[in-house]
Amino acid sequence: MLVVKNITVKYKEKVAAKNINFEVKEGEIVGLIGADGAGKSSTLHAIAGVKGFEGEIEYNGYKYHSPKEAEKIKDRLSLMPQGLGLVLYDLLSVREHFDFFRGLRGIRKDPEYEKRLLKMAGLYEFQDRLAGNLSGGMRQKLSLILALLHRPQLLILDEPTTGVDPISRRELWDIVDNERKENGIIALISTAYMQEAALMDKIMLFDEGEIIAKGTNEELIQSIKDYTYEGEIECDECMSFAGKTYSLKDLNLKKTTPTLEGLFFVNALKKNRKMPKIKLEQKHTDTPETVVKAVGLTKKFGNFIADDHIDLELKKGEILGLLGANGAGKTTFMKMLLGLYPIDEGELYLLGEKINSYKDRIKLKSKIGYVSQRFALYDDLTIYENIKYFGKMHGLTSEEIEKKAEFFSNLLDFKDYLNFFPTDVPLGINQRFSVAVALLHDPVVLFLDEPTSGVDTIARASFWKFMRELKEKWQISILITTHYMSEAEYCDRVVVLKRGKKILDDTMSNIHKNYPGMSFEDVFIKLVGNNNED
Ligand SMILES: Nc1ncnc2c1ncn2[C@@H]1O[C@H](COP(=O)(O)OP(=O)(O)OP(=O)(O)O)[C@@H](O)[C@H]1O
Ligand SMILES: [Mg+2]
Repeated sequence: MLVVKNITVKYKEKVAAKNINFEVKEGEIVGLIGADGAGKSSTLHAIAGVKGFEGEIEYNGYKYHSPKEAEKIKDRLSLMPQGLGLVLYDLLSVREHFDFFRGLRGIRKDPEYEKRLLKMAGLYEFQDRLAGNLSGGMRQKLSLILALLHRPQLLILDEPTTGVDPISRRELWDIVDNERKENGIIALISTAYMQEAALMDKIMLFDEGEIIAKGTNEELIQSIKDYTYEGEIECDECMSFAGKTYSLKDLNLKKTTPTLEGLFFVNALKKNRKMPKIKLEQKHTDTPETVVKAVGLTKKFGNFIADDHIDLELKKGEILGLLGANGAGKTTFMKMLLGLYPIDEGELYLLGEKINSYKDRIKLKSKIGYVSQRFALYDDLTIYENIKYFGKMHGLTSEEIEKKAEFFSNLLDFKDYLNFFPTDVPLGINQRFSVAVALLHDPVVLFLDEPTSGVDTIARASFWKFMRELKEKWQISILITTHYMSEAEYCDRVVVLKRGKKILDDTMSNIHKNYPGMSFEDVFIKLVGNNNED
């Protein structure tokens, strides 16, 4: 049994979580949800004994009040911190990580269990690969199975499924579920995927450092059913996302069954928070009709083919979703488009020009914006300083930079964090300001590698409104990857990769015609199936 009694967690003067109370019984899985910066990580860190706190925590009768006192339960607990594979060593292989963590935890090898973990993570056949050469989601899954290696009784996972594909997310769930049934573990899991939270026994909604709602999925959904309508509309006192509209006032529209995502919107409406108004001025660009044309692009790493003869076209003003399970080859493909990896075979045309050399790219640099999957800006500059630095690099004046910082921080809602260092802010905030930096120089084409991973529901909703505006008003073309299958609905077209091969390339409207009555997530799972076996 875990009892958290009135704990408060502070960072210097800032209160990150206050008066947090809850109880978890053996075998229970509890989900923590809430906006970026709402206090989930701070609470988890206090329980895991890595962060000081006021108040008391009791685990199986043992009471602790500080990280020092928590030492006593460390061998029974496991914390997986937020971020893509933070606990990994780039120069150790998957197998070496297992050896290293076994040694660290002082445990013996259990080949059957390890095999199961590796299979679930889709890493069984990649045991010799260096962690530095794994895809983002593969890194995340390796961190996760390492956290499970010593079979902890108290499992604390901070957004373990950020960047993890929908199929692996289900497998992860099965493992945790099994551990709780067989071994009665307690799991505390924060997540930005509400479908996942819905599976948990109990869900706690954090907001501004407090738990403002607690209950089962059913109970929480009941609480918002009067405010949830079908379809998306524009209005002043409502919010829309993923095919639903939320409003406290009666809208005279058809009501629909809510999902947990709605909790965020209804709570925001109750607190009188507004989504930023996203309206851009119409702008004409003389971009060619085809912005990217890839013909048979291929990338090999030794004998391994990461991208196998991929054809892809991105049109002017089109939003193209590049989807696929972890390790399917999405990031590698983008890196070829950007010239970050040499192209082994195939032809590439960018903005109408055939790319043969580095020189061809230099000319186009100012027209392309890129957000990489791994945070790639400066950790030792504040968010504002980063914006300034990259703005200057693109030749913007101080006034222009000032204006853009103001515009983007309002639009993408990271204003409160401008003077923070990237290491001190939630993952979702870094993702958002990376998007702003990629847009500073007014590119006409954007390559966005999981810009919404780890970003909270409301911020994702505004992000997609913004993408639509960029497309419609500025005719910007966007190639984007995501593991939120519901976001595919915002794309005009999707390309699905499976183990380096293209298996689908069609418009969303055609896909819905061809798979009537199925959500895109179902279509995806049907097509990609078990990524580990053909
Ligand atoms: N430098 C490298 N050396 C060897 N293999 C690599 C290297 N870079 C990538 N790979 C492998 O290529 C495959 C595709 O990786 P990629 O990062 O493109 O996947 P992804 O589709 O972006 O996945 P994710 O959803 O996890 O981000 C993976 O198996 C990865 O381990
Ligand atoms: Mg990737």
